[in-house]
Amino acid sequence: MTPPLLVRDLAQLATPAPVPRPRRGRALGDVLVLEDAYVLCRDGLIAEVGRMRDLAPLAADVVEVDGRGLSAVPGLVDCHTHPAWGGDRVTEFSLRAGGASYEELHAAGGGILSTVLATRALDETALCECVRRHAGWMLRHGTTTWEGKSGYGLDHDTELASLRAIRAAGGSPTWLGAHAVPPEFADADAYLEYALAEVLPAAAEIASAADVFLEGGAFDAKQARRYLAACADAGLALRLHGDQFAEAGSIPLAVELGARSVDHLEATRDAGIRALAASDVTAVLLPASALFLGRPMPPARALVDAGAAVALATDFNPGSAFTESLPLVASLACTQLRLTPEEALTAVTVNAAHVLDAGRAGELSAGSSADLVLLDAPDWRYLAYHLAGDVVHTVILGGEVAAVR
Ligand code: NIG
Ligand code: FE
Repeated sequence: MTPPLLVRDLAQLATPAPVPRPRRGRALGDVLVLEDAYVLCRDGLIAEVGRMRDLAPLAADVVEVDGRGLSAVPGLVDCHTHPAWGGDRVTEFSLRAGGASYEELHAAGGGILSTVLATRALDETALCECVRRHAGWMLRHGTTTWEGKSGYGLDHDTELASLRAIRAAGGSPTWLGAHAVPPEFADADAYLEYALAEVLPAAAEIASAADVFLEGGAFDAKQARRYLAACADAGLALRLHGDQFAEAGSIPLAVELGARSVDHLEATRDAGIRALAASDVTAVLLPASALFLGRPMPPARALVDAGAAVALATDFNPGSAFTESLPLVASLACTQLRLTPEEALTAVTVNAAHVLDAGRAGELSAGSSADLVLLDAPDWRYLAYHLAGDVVHTVILGGEVAAVR
């Protein structure tokens, strides 16, 4: 049994209002802030959150963490990552820096397909090691709950190994079986025929959700519907990569199929914003990807103002968003997406947890899991304010110190 843990004398503690989830519209900005606060963790859960002056005397076996000068926020929730891959895309990065476009490189067999070849070359032990390494990076940036997608295997063995590696590293696995058409298939329909017959039955045993890249050069709306409908029949929650480069029917399809989210949305215009706001589908925004590719930012302010449920995520992957930092994403939300720090905090905690159906992750209150981040700052808003800063001081996972700098 691990002893209780008391984080004491915190300069500040901030938590989004936990219910109802997801937070929408103005409710996205509801954040409770306590000054001179403590958090008491017991048996992996938060037992108490309060002001120091209200702290009752504690038993002798309590482990104490000195929170002076620090502020606490909930463990961050990254609801969109691609952590299972081999190789890198640094040469492609250089070519893009020299003027080549992401779509051109993708069409020329670079991009996603080059990572597919490098990932297939790894055995399962090496793939597990890669995912564990990436999960360690995320943890050190304050991420305590995360989703990880397959999608760089696109064959039976590598997709399943990717999903197992994600689960073994502590992530929630999503089968991105429809990420690209691998070279051994003539077209998207032929590949889907194979993937749904040969991979889905086993993938559905491991994964919690399925995802598709609905975009020109990947899968069209008809193919995405076929893939997602089969995945829903197999019991998987549904996600879509949509409207990244052009609107191609992702939002109506997501609403029709009851998907949990559409992610990206850089190209979404007014009708799509209205449709999302009127639905239960969460808009997952990935500003680090837009930044990395030099693309327009998604219409975050309009989505929130229209009443949509909005979450933020890194999109961590080697090609379009090589960052594991949700604090950086929160900074981009405030500087590029015109969200407030309060809205950004909600979007990287309770709303992201809602996308993953992750219980009470993302809040600091009695009874929720004892996952918290101590920021090296007297005000919790440094989470977004300290652009690319070394803001994460300590990460507590399940009531134990998991990372300290
Ligand atoms: O979310 N858009 C599709 N998939 C990833 C990028 C994958 C890659 O470039 O390797 C994304 O941006
Ligand atoms: Fe993605």
